[in-house]
Amino acid sequence: MQRFAKEKPLYKKNIPLLIPRAEHQISRSAINRNALKVLYRLHEAGFSAYLVGGCVRDLLLGVKPKDFDIATDARPEEVRKLFKNCRLIGKRFRLAHILFGPEIIEVATFRTHHENAKEQHGKMHQGMIIRDNVYGTIEDDAWRRDFRINALYYNIADFSIVDYTGGIQDIKDKVLHMIGDPMQRFHEDPVRLLRAIRFLAKLNISITEETEEPLNRLSYLLGHVSPGRLFQEVLKFFQEGASLPTFHLLQKYKLFSQLFPETGKFLEEPATLDLLQSALTNTDLRIRENKNISPAFLFAVFLWHPVQKELEESTKNGLPIYAAYEKALQYHVKKQTEVLAIPRVMQITIRDICLLQYRLSQRRGNQPFRLLQHPRFRAGFDLLLIRAEKEVDVKELATWWTRFIESSHEEREKLLKEVEKPKKYNRRKKRKKKE
Ligand code: CTP
Repeated sequence: MQRFAKEKPLYKKNIPLLIPRAEHQISRSAINRNALKVLYRLHEAGFSAYLVGGCVRDLLLGVKPKDFDIATDARPEEVRKLFKNCRLIGKRFRLAHILFGPEIIEVATFRTHHENAKEQHGKMHQGMIIRDNVYGTIEDDAWRRDFRINALYYNIADFSIVDYTGGIQDIKDKVLHMIGDPMQRFHEDPVRLLRAIRFLAKLNISITEETEEPLNRLSYLLGHVSPGRLFQEVLKFFQEGASLPTFHLLQKYKLFSQLFPETGKFLEEPATLDLLQSALTNTDLRIRENKNISPAFLFAVFLWHPVQKELEESTKNGLPIYAAYEKALQYHVKKQTEVLAIPRVMQITIRDICLLQYRLSQRRGNQPFRLLQHPRFRAGFDLLLIRAEKEVDVKELATWWTRFIESSHEEREKLLKEVEKPKKYNRRKKRKKKE
């Protein structure tokens, strides 16, 4: 590793710990084939090439990695010359994407921490890094990463693991430990607050006291992060099978209300808490069963009680129910989108799922047959089902819909007549009065 020690980065602390192949459990058979191809090609061309970050961490912890990222001393242009299927992306970080059909292997050139960079490169704004694209050595690259477990490198040259920061010890201790001064590192990039929560929940590990301490006090920093970036991070919470523990940790560290301010106001209410926990449990179960999950569904669940409150006010003031729904939804979806940049299509889906709660209660004429064809019917029905777990008056409706879905056409007609009966009776009564 001599060649990497020639520069003296600010965070340089020691020489790396090298774990030879015989002493760790990462086997090439567990590594994505395309990532291996890229690693070998870089290596054969004389560059250094490592797997880095989440994939090394996950493989060591026995978790299936989501993606396989590569770090190298080749510059992006040099990477492009090696691969026909390469595209360079990014302004803030220049990265190479190697495309294998729908799969992308990301290759990043070693970068240095902004404090090691010359002034014109690493840019800071109020303690936050806004531009961070200065090349460095593998050692620089390790020290600029967020947590020690995320700064491990798997070297394709000899299949060893390279550890500059103490990540291997943390993997053994199952602990999350920020590299450098946690307070400063959270300030540099407040998204690390959310990343910390995500790793704690997903990996079921603990956190060092030093890293945990500022977590409690820095939730306000999320207000400095763009809604687009926050949305992307929040999406990850729902996709890793640990959204319930994530929710509990967000509450514990007072981060939830920063992300969902309106929902946050209802967390003291058991009905809201029950609904959220039920939906999150269900989401985690679906992930474990390899089923699709819909983030829009969870957003609809989160907004459901704030929307209900708004609805009560509007209907009290005489607004017809459907118009009141539309008004409440428009207000809350917009308000939530100011914090998390929910894309337009997803906003419409959230709105539809909530509106379906009303529409599902209108069981007349052809309506139920038409609702079965609604593209969001399943999600709307799922929300109805979890509401029914606690709301007594929704139980009957949910049971009826369950039977309706499972029935033949004839049986559906019968079910419909059953719920239409009281209405006919009323009409007759009215006519009699007129006579
Ligand atoms: N990284 C970082 N600081 C960030 C984002 C990323 O130091 N704010 C580094 C970490 O080394 C991280 C790697 O970039 O491991 C890749 O980041 P990303 O793909 O976002 O997350 P992973 O750590 O890979 O985790 P996961 O795969 O679970 O998303």
